[in-house]
Amino acid sequence: MHVLEFDTVVIGSGLAGLSAAYHSSEFGKVAIVTKSQLDTSNSYYAQGGIAAAISKDDSPEKHLHDTLVTGRGLCDRDAVEILVNEGRDRVLELIELGMPFDREGKDFVLGLEGGHSKRRILHAGGDATGKALTCFKLGLVQAKKNIESFEYVTAIKLLIQENRIQGVHAYDFKTGENIVFKAKAVIMATGGMSRIFARSTNPHTATGDGVALAYEAGAQISDIEFIQFHPSALYIPNQEAYLISEAVRGEGAWLLNNKGERFMKDIHPLAELAPRDVVAYSIFRQIQKSGDKFIYLSLKHLDKEKIRKRFHNINLHLKEFGFDITEDLLPIAPAAHYMVGGVHTNLDAETNISGLFVCGELASTGVMGANRLASNSLLECLVFGKRASEKAAKIKASTGDIELPKPVYVDQANEETFLNYRNNLAEIMSDKLGIVRNRTGLEDAVRQLAEITEQFKNETNEYNLLKIQNEAAICQLVAKAALIREESRGGHIREDFQNENPDFKVHCIQQKNKEIHF
Ligand code: SIN
Repeated sequence: MHVLEFDTVVIGSGLAGLSAAYHSSEFGKVAIVTKSQLDTSNSYYAQGGIAAAISKDDSPEKHLHDTLVTGRGLCDRDAVEILVNEGRDRVLELIELGMPFDREGKDFVLGLEGGHSKRRILHAGGDATGKALTCFKLGLVQAKKNIESFEYVTAIKLLIQENRIQGVHAYDFKTGENIVFKAKAVIMATGGMSRIFARSTNPHTATGDGVALAYEAGAQISDIEFIQFHPSALYIPNQEAYLISEAVRGEGAWLLNNKGERFMKDIHPLAELAPRDVVAYSIFRQIQKSGDKFIYLSLKHLDKEKIRKRFHNINLHLKEFGFDITEDLLPIAPAAHYMVGGVHTNLDAETNISGLFVCGELASTGVMGANRLASNSLLECLVFGKRASEKAAKIKASTGDIELPKPVYVDQANEETFLNYRNNLAEIMSDKLGIVRNRTGLEDAVRQLAEITEQFKNETNEYNLLKIQNEAAICQLVAKAALIREESRGGHIREDFQNENPDFKVHCIQQKNKEIHF
């Protein structure tokens, strides 16, 4: 067992992890541990951009208002105030440092997305904001001498003693070594879980491992039943879903049903730019009514040159499948996109375990409520990544002695059992925990999840077993919370309880060995 010692260990290398590592490096020695490459993350694939109230006719108060309305009564106002105010500061700092957001002349070109009352989405490279932003931040991180990166190293267990973090047990896929990272503070930023669904806009790494590790260690998980489905992911049979940014609708694209009707006009005053939960649900209903598997996105009526320039990368991707973004009706359907809840934290990104911090999509900070406002996620990464690092730096405790865990043996050659398992899981999640849920389906899901976990309990490949247990645990958390939330709100819609119920305007909390409760 290899033992390494740092002041702070950051798990995950999306924008939240990079931000946390960058700011932590002001205070001591930092390790970034990532199960893939540094530039493989959900943040990297973000297209639309990052929301910040920087224009003259906008204000953090307006941004606050839009976030609270979209969050359907479940946002924590204090957390949102921090997000919109400090978020604006973090974005201005990045601009100062040279982040190349798109401009026309001196002015930033600001995009519009669902639920925003103002144009406030900064973007870069047209529709490649995530790539531009994570690469820019990665450049800043790599310039820091006291940050060491560990690629293809996966976290296996959080090491806790008397409710204080001691470090992380990890496995290095490159060398086959087990590693213990001793640390005063651990900041987890491992992202969401949407890849567990059959159709998702996320990269293959978004499997919710962080939720399982934190839950197993005793951290509280909140509001995990809220899953955001992105309304417009390209639908091609037997192909991966591909995100077509909401910014496309911000530029005026229409959603058309199979009769060619702009159905959103009759559903919400903001039509195609209604909050994401409303649009995804409305598309689901259209699909159910028609029996087709998709509806259409149309940009045929928009300025062709402007669209090709602004959405250059999306257009390139569509071309590979024979579509022209400006000429063709584009088949789309919703796909799992974002884990709205996660590991419960306070305003400094601290969990209930001393020294364990969480930020980015993995965290439930209270800023997203029941439904995230579009393009608020990259902002959350910047704000709470910094807050986590500053609070972590105040920890006085030394790393001390640590009881070394039993090494894990990883057989990478034998993945078949795991892939079968994952297909079963994806089917259950998509059928029973998709956009619309009901009691019977949720009870079935809880039972089926327990059954298939039981089937695999004798798996001899230790790493497969760990992944199976982790993913099953996450799915169970979502299913159990969805079952007891007997109302429809944001990213949780129940056929059998179709309205919001003020009695459920509360957070759902789960913790190992404790009863689930609100
Ligand atoms: C998009 O570009 O539509 C995704 C933006 C987001 O999820 O905030």
